[in-house]
Amino acid sequence: MTSQTYRKPVRKAVFPVAGLGTRFLPATKAIPKEMLPIIDRPLIQYAVDEAREAGIDQFIFVTGRGKTSIVEHFDTAYELETTMSERGKSLEVLEPTRVSPGNLLTVRQQVPMGLGHAIWCARAIVGDEPFAIFLPDELMIGSPGCMKQMVEAYEEVGGNLISVLEVPHDQVSSYGVIAPGAKLDALGGALTEVTGLVEKPKVEDAPSNLIISGRYILQPEVMRTLEGQEKGAGGEIQLTDAMARMIGQQPFHAVTFAGRRYDCGSKVGFVEATLALALEREDMATEVRDIASRLLK
Ligand code: G1P
Repeated sequence: MTSQTYRKPVRKAVFPVAGLGTRFLPATKAIPKEMLPIIDRPLIQYAVDEAREAGIDQFIFVTGRGKTSIVEHFDTAYELETTMSERGKSLEVLEPTRVSPGNLLTVRQQVPMGLGHAIWCARAIVGDEPFAIFLPDELMIGSPGCMKQMVEAYEEVGGNLISVLEVPHDQVSSYGVIAPGAKLDALGGALTEVTGLVEKPKVEDAPSNLIISGRYILQPEVMRTLEGQEKGAGGEIQLTDAMARMIGQQPFHAVTFAGRRYDCGSKVGFVEATLALALEREDMATEVRDIASRLLK
């Protein structure tokens, strides 16, 4: 094995978007949760933008029934665009929704069997290349973005990488948790070896309070590992369990994300993200600040 092994560039990203979104019912009865907007962009758009910034140009959506509007969002909207052009309106606002022909692929996850199963459903499209994974519920805001930070780390160490962040110890049971090994000097100490991974441990069993925060760069061999993966936490096929089995066989590192993370899988996190991003937008920050302080009085 040469030092070039496990260092092919990351061109593909998998977005598991088949989840039912029950936490946001009734809003998500007929609309995918990934299409809920933070201000004027659906959640999935933030994830795709983050992927593009990191140099990724092939988008693989693992979808399911009722998720067609996610694909429509990234399609050409002929009637809309023609009408807007006729009315002299700029189409610039639609720019982020454009994907080059052939660069958006979908595969269906027919039964909800967990994140590991969702990723495995994309195996034929991923093929023999490293790939990124984005969990769109996790809204990562940073400059550069989370995946770009990870790609920079990947250029240093190759192999498999996950983004991690610290949470209070009593919250670890909601997440995948890493056992951190040695810190590397590269990237200002943001890179850590991963010596173990456990999905949704009991607080007393958690190896640390560093959680997997929904961004991954993985080598294609993980698909073979997922193939025989038994059910884990919650009776689901867990990506974390398959990754844990790759430790020791391939390089495995964690990148501590320098930026902010909003858990948009929870209602409170969603409101927090909306407020935080609105307060940063030039076109509305002043008004929103005034409204917020009025409401808080
Ligand atoms: C998934 C992963 C978990 C990760 C989390 C981040 O869990 O399995 O390792 O920490 O996303 O949001 P889920 O939220 O789907 O239960």
